[in-house]
Amino acid sequence: MSDSDHRSKNLGPNTQLVRAGYDPFDYHGFINPPTVRASTVLFPNAAAMETHSQKYTYATRGTPTTDALCDAVNALEGAAGTILVPSGLAAVTLAFLAYLSPGDHVLIVDSVYGNVRHFCDTMLKRFGVEVEYYDPSVGAAIETLFKPNTRLVHLEAPGSNTFEMQDVPAIAAVAHRHDAVVTMDNAWATPLYFRPLDFGVDISIQASTKYPAGHSDILLGTVSANAEHWKRLRQANGALGICGAADDAYQVLRGLRTMGVRLERHQSGALEIARWLEARSEVARVLHPALPSFPGHDIWKRDFKGASGVFSFVLAVARKDEFKAKAQSFLDGLSLFGLGYSWGGFSSLALHVDLEERRILQAPDEGPVLRLHIGLEDVADLKADLAKGFAALQ
Ligand SMILES: Cc1ncc(COP(=O)(O)O)c(C=O)c1O
Repeated sequence: MSDSDHRSKNLGPNTQLVRAGYDPFDYHGFINPPTVRASTVLFPNAAAMETHSQKYTYATRGTPTTDALCDAVNALEGAAGTILVPSGLAAVTLAFLAYLSPGDHVLIVDSVYGNVRHFCDTMLKRFGVEVEYYDPSVGAAIETLFKPNTRLVHLEAPGSNTFEMQDVPAIAAVAHRHDAVVTMDNAWATPLYFRPLDFGVDISIQASTKYPAGHSDILLGTVSANAEHWKRLRQANGALGICGAADDAYQVLRGLRTMGVRLERHQSGALEIARWLEARSEVARVLHPALPSFPGHDIWKRDFKGASGVFSFVLAVARKDEFKAKAQSFLDGLSLFGLGYSWGGFSSLALHVDLEERRILQAPDEGPVLRLHIGLEDVADLKADLAKGFAALQ
């Protein structure tokens, strides 16, 4: 973990991505930082050991490699401090554990990442925390859901699988009036396209597994706090001992250097395919916040600087009892798109979305929802592959 690094504050986003977090002349000019694999840190004498009067004391509390990544993320998020944890899911659960106590009430967006819902419905409930889901479109009307014991509001925008947008500043303002902490899962946009802390969020969460790592071979999460919340987050991290490994931090920092160009390509490919899908008769609706037809588009345009490569579409299927079979025929007709969950890598993915756990939002009745992650392949090849999926419906 590391405190904020303001050295690259005034640089453009891509320049920051290339430079942030590490000065090559801190380590003999080598352009990438060393991978410091460690548990033990030695002290030169007993007095230094007693007073901890040196920067590093124990590797769960950070190493030069994990600090390089944390400093880079601080610069990108505009954060006071960042911790690393072993997955995006752990990044959310650690943030919750940092704040919640038995008897607290939490407000969780209904379009939340499914495994976070599972954590809330199992462990949080077991620990005596009252969990309530809210409609992502609620905006300032979230006020009506507050109780005297509401301690935390969790946002995720766009929402998982169905991509609902949220009025982040309106929700954050209400939460702060009620002394609740605001956490946000920002894995879809990354801090390049949306900076939660600039919009009133207290704790910004990234699944670095996705675009920051970018190659489908690393699991890592980051939790970044504003100045008010950094101390508490850092203490919770120290108490729990959940930390990121040096090799993974090295790979994610390496990934950040190219994330800007990769995201531009994910964005343009996804948008081209989303528009192409909108024009197809087999498609009922495309769920992509950057499309003017999408209900949350105005908020996306107001607050976000770009769109990444994950979105969904609703296949037009007349009979509900055929939804699953048609979705599976479509998926089995694909060959370039892999069938897999963890998006953000170089290759395209597809899956049939399961919306059964939703409490407030209704699954579309026009047909099954299929989620795509558009990778870095040539768009013409991906369209041809999707056309094969449509042909397989016949
Ligand atoms: C929005 C979102 N947040 C968090 C995660 C969890 O990330 P990880 O796979 O690193 O646990 C995912 C994974 O798909 C996700 O889609």
